[in-house]
Amino acid sequence: MLVIFGASGDLTARKLVPALFNLFIAKQLPENFVVLGASRSDMTDKDFRRKVVLESKYLKERLEDLKDSYIAQFANRFFYEDLGEDYDTDYGRLRKRVEDLNAKYHTEGNIMYYLSTPPTLYETIAKNLADAGLNTQNNGWKRLIVEKPFGYSLDTAKKLNHGLQQHFTEPQIYRIDHYLGKETVQNLLVTRFANSIFEPLWNRNYINHIEITNAESVGVEKRGGYYDKSGALRDMFQNHLLQIVSLVVMEPPIGDEPEEIRNEKVKALKSLRIMQDDQTIYDHTIRGQYVASEINGEKVKGYREEEGVDPNSTTETYAAIKFFVDNWRWKDVPFYVRTAKRMPTKVTEVVIHFKTPHHQIFKDSGLSNKDNKLVIRIQPDEGILMKFGVKVPGQGFKVERANLDFYYSSLAQTHVMEAYERLLLDAMQGDATLYARADEVEAAWEFVDPILNYWEKGEDVRMYGYAAGVWGPENADELIEGIGHWRNPGSNLADDPGYCVIC
Ligand code: BG6
Repeated sequence: MLVIFGASGDLTARKLVPALFNLFIAKQLPENFVVLGASRSDMTDKDFRRKVVLESKYLKERLEDLKDSYIAQFANRFFYEDLGEDYDTDYGRLRKRVEDLNAKYHTEGNIMYYLSTPPTLYETIAKNLADAGLNTQNNGWKRLIVEKPFGYSLDTAKKLNHGLQQHFTEPQIYRIDHYLGKETVQNLLVTRFANSIFEPLWNRNYINHIEITNAESVGVEKRGGYYDKSGALRDMFQNHLLQIVSLVVMEPPIGDEPEEIRNEKVKALKSLRIMQDDQTIYDHTIRGQYVASEINGEKVKGYREEEGVDPNSTTETYAAIKFFVDNWRWKDVPFYVRTAKRMPTKVTEVVIHFKTPHHQIFKDSGLSNKDNKLVIRIQPDEGILMKFGVKVPGQGFKVERANLDFYYSSLAQTHVMEAYERLLLDAMQGDATLYARADEVEAAWEFVDPILNYWEKGEDVRMYGYAAGVWGPENADELIEGIGHWRNPGSNLADDPGYCVIC
């Protein structure tokens, strides 16, 4: 049984129910599966079914070609319980409902609670569940899935972890980070640890620097109120991007058991050099905010004009951070990570920049600044691209870069699961590999906290403006040692020309 708190909210209809529907179609849901929505809206079971399934705009196209009886098999497993005015209430009635459904549908007391409410309610809900005896595992397992944000700072994250752990044990708590549900993010592990050609090079001897870009073309849309209290560093960097960083940085785990992998990720996050002094943070970070502009002939609002945003807001919509990792493997290798809204395109990729060959034989090759790169595209046009040198036909040894690429789309036969689909299925099966552990979240906050503090209170802190639709403030390029610019990718993986002979 999946009990969703905050079931009348957008996430349930937009992400959770479509993910469940995909699992239903793929016959991956157990036959005796039920969903119980719980929130403060006054709705009947039927209203809830209409809202999240039958009349949901997120399922509309999928349902068009399906028989009503088939859709009903899915929709009729949805139920709703009105919690009244407050989440902080006695869950006796909820318990009764859970027990009735459990008896009727033989769910064997196996329950996942999904908290899709404002984070301020997480602890309250966990406590009330515990008070109603809904956390005990003597008759079936109980798991608590928590959405981000996990805290607002190191201190609040610790308090939240501690609070939840009063009522649920750590192995019962599943902190969802939807980036870990992405196939391409998981593939970082496979690229590194299932090949013998990359891992020997995956260190300071061969890698010059690592660049990670997460760009979105949209602005803050209708989430201005939330976003203005959060900003790019909290919204994307502390969680999704540091998760990607941990997979790039980590040492090989002994095996693929969840705790083996999570232990290595925590170690990786703990090895990030925390920037303590203002000067370092000043030199190694850039924050920006988009300002009004015109994109493809259309006027686009600046961040401060967005609904729900303070007109004098100093919340960043762009964050670029340079940092080092203090361990044997990565000593002195700079990492550059940026995330932003209102960029020219939506793209997330990791670029491994290899060092120039130590001894250059082909002096006039034009090789400088054309070092080998491994581009791991998280989204869109998911795939992997390797850039390497080839000889230009003709006299002498002129070298150009060519592309060697792999695209997920070429695996047409394979169904690539949506992030939430995979994560919900894993949680049902008790596999926490792709969920963040308490110490992992805290290690990430430990790195982010001093930057946030400096940005909030430090002297000489700058907020740079960038026109909506460009690659952020111009001076962000100055962050990159040596080559002095970011790779600004297009929507296609092999977007830059590379070299080829066409006839
Ligand atoms: C969410 C952030 O966690 O991730 C959003 O809160 C952001 O601001 C979203 O838009 C991006 O997710 P994706 O999967 O579209 O890259």
